[in-house]
Amino acid sequence: MIAKGQTRAPDFVVGGAPVWKAFFDAAAQAEMVEALRRVVAAAPLFSPETRWGKPMSVGMTSAGRYGWYSDRSKGYRYIDRHPSGAPWPPIPDPVLAVWHAVAPDARAPDCCLVNVYRAGAKMGLHQDRDEADFSQPVISISLGDEGLFRIGGTLRGGPTQSVWLASGDVLALREEARLAFHGIDRIRHGSSALLKGGGRINLTLRVVD
Ligand code: SIN
Ligand code: MN
Repeated sequence: MIAKGQTRAPDFVVGGAPVWKAFFDAAAQAEMVEALRRVVAAAPLFSPETRWGKPMSVGMTSAGRYGWYSDRSKGYRYIDRHPSGAPWPPIPDPVLAVWHAVAPDARAPDCCLVNVYRAGAKMGLHQDRDEADFSQPVISISLGDEGLFRIGGTLRGGPTQSVWLASGDVLALREEARLAFHGIDRIRHGSSALLKGGGRINLTLRVVD
């Protein structure tokens, strides 16, 4: 469990985004995965379509007041219910504790997007720009297998830098990096024993309104 008020300086900055390596330990990671199992039981994973109608390789669901969604007809947006019509489950407390530890001055998040990467899954470079207030950070939490995270500037096609994100790592898209292009090139399948059968989970916490 992340202690209330736990704060720590970031270990390094990549593309303007601070990174905290191993921000929480194996026991806290396992606790978070348990809480996420309950989220997925209430709000099953689905594969959204890009706005060009291509299914994404990443399984997704959300917790909080809003969930992120995309399909060919309406594109990228937040919706207030799971596609089944069920309400999104609440954001688990251990996840909220990470937000409060690294973004103590921010408003409370109202969406936790859950991305599940199985072998071969990746995410193309994109900006997180479906939120109303870019003064609020996006906080990313990595669990399970390592993922090769790529980050560039705010214009598509500029130079990029890459870093492997491991289980327990936390990264913040904030200030000059809030609208940075970012994505996941590949997963080192089997590099972590946290998830049975391997795979990577990434959580991104956002303030939507
Ligand atoms: C995302 O940008 O939604 C996910 C990034 C990641 O998986 O680290
Ligand atoms: Mn993103």
